[in-house]
Amino acid sequence: MRRGSVLQLVGLGAVAAAITTAVALLIPWLPVSASKESTRIHFVYWFTTVIAIVVFAAVVAVLAYSVIHFRARPDDDSDGPPTHGHTTLEIVWTAIPAVLVTAISIVSAVVLAQNSRAGSTPLVVQVTAQQFAWEFTYPNGKRYGYLTLPKGRHVKLEITAKDVIHSFWVPEFSQKQDAVPGQTNTLVITPTRLGTFPVICTELCGLGHALMRSHADVVTTAKFADFMKHGAGGSPGLAVFQENGCGSCHTFRPAAATGKVGPDLDGLKASAAKANRGPLDKFIEESIVDPSAYVAPGFPDGVMPHIYKQQIQPGQLQQLVQYLSKGAK
Ligand code: CUA
Repeated sequence: MRRGSVLQLVGLGAVAAAITTAVALLIPWLPVSASKESTRIHFVYWFTTVIAIVVFAAVVAVLAYSVIHFRARPDDDSDGPPTHGHTTLEIVWTAIPAVLVTAISIVSAVVLAQNSRAGSTPLVVQVTAQQFAWEFTYPNGKRYGYLTLPKGRHVKLEITAKDVIHSFWVPEFSQKQDAVPGQTNTLVITPTRLGTFPVICTELCGLGHALMRSHADVVTTAKFADFMKHGAGGSPGLAVFQENGCGSCHTFRPAAATGKVGPDLDGLKASAAKANRGPLDKFIEESIVDPSAYVAPGFPDGVMPHIYKQQIQPGQLQQLVQYLSKGAK
């Protein structure tokens, strides 16, 4: 091969690599990494991407070179010269991808093994999924509708479901795990970044699937110790509100809840007047235990779970109703 041809091949490859690298780097393909496990997964992603860019650039270079130099002239109707393949070339283009794919497998296996290690003293949180809410149970027996995690500690989630298959996903943690009835799947998370991240159901599970959201708060070790001792703090009604995850779907200013799935609870008084179904506290109670009795205009029936009649004890229900009617405008 002449030196000019080699230079041309290298030039074409460099152009293809530059364009692909720009696409890879300039578009934010991944969310920020908020856990050790996620950082390892991002490493595998970039390791694979670099290999893919190199292979892509080599193929495009040879392809473009061939299109430029070996295309048939407009008046050329003759057959091409007979060729017999090139054994060395075939061995090379089989061996190199085999090595690269093996390297990707090894790196992935190492990361998977590291990511399933929870250490000897992980915080264990039971995760229960049901249509269409998440419930998180802590070692002290307290249940919440959202996840609170200490930064820097191994957390082992034990994930199951009550009804159908759901799937736990926090994009910033880069891992997904199925929630299957009658089975416990585990997921290890070691948070590295303070903040609030969305918890998303990523398995089609029914009418409210797209709305089956919660959030994960990553807090400092000190704040977490406080959370384990006192819960989220505030009134008993607020605790019931938080334990049942009401805030993932409803906006309610006294609870700093900003959910947008169901009706805004700050406007409860106006809604009760419009519904015309008796006094405010009766209306609130009915809406919790029998959500289909009256569905606020503009919201579909069946999204508010029909589970709270069983799930909330009568005493707690009264605390919640009082809390909501007092805080409503
Ligand atoms: Cu639960 Cu989708």
